[in-house]
Amino acid sequence: MPVPVTDLLGQLEFFRDIGISEIDISPETEAIFPAQVSGDRVAEPRKGMMTLDNVREELGDCQRCKLAATRTKLVFGAGNPDADLMFVGEAPGFEEDRQGLPFVGRAGGLLTKIIESIDLKREDVYICNVLKCRPPGNRNPEPEEVETCRPFLRRQIEVIRPKLVCCMGAFAAQTMLRTKVPISKLRGQFHDIDGVRYIATFHPAYLLRNPEKKREVWEDMKLIRAELLGSQTD
Ligand code: URA
Repeated sequence: MPVPVTDLLGQLEFFRDIGISEIDISPETEAIFPAQVSGDRVAEPRKGMMTLDNVREELGDCQRCKLAATRTKLVFGAGNPDADLMFVGEAPGFEEDRQGLPFVGRAGGLLTKIIESIDLKREDVYICNVLKCRPPGNRNPEPEEVETCRPFLRRQIEVIRPKLVCCMGAFAAQTMLRTKVPISKLRGQFHDIDGVRYIATFHPAYLLRNPEKKREVWEDMKLIRAELLGSQTD
């Protein structure tokens, strides 16, 4: 039965929005798709249909919120598109906005050390932020900006399908876990939401101001390491 493609698109978007990332299609439908969508997944990353490049293209020269007017460069994210571990911060700062890369300032230097503390390299993980553009003067992100950007982060997670997403700082943790519980209570445990496993820890910029909190971040990193190692044998 012929169905208008536009009707299908709406339905597929609805599935994606409620967290369904794959559906079964009939052999007849499969035959009209390119190889990477069909059962013979030779050319395609193992994890999903969309790629990070597709998500980046969809974002384009984003003008969806007022941050477009003040940003220098949009900061999409960087790292391994097939990462088991993903780090999510709040929003680009001065240096990130200048370079178009996440966590490249002082807090980023500390994040690199935190990653290396569990025998990983920056290139092994994927790093991005809730917001893709810097709020002027590093002010707090506004709810409308978060809601405008959220679908792109959700798609990045869908494409990468990491085993674990580490939210850094109260803002990222409360946004991703959709809660107002303080970061000190959210950290130190896993949170499973919509098929994604999260952990929260303190933000590296906060650690620069409160170095005594590094001990708790180290505890969180040990949990992360154990989880990643444990899931290798699953
Ligand atoms: N702080 C963040 O939350 N993200 C960055 O990319 C840099 C600093």
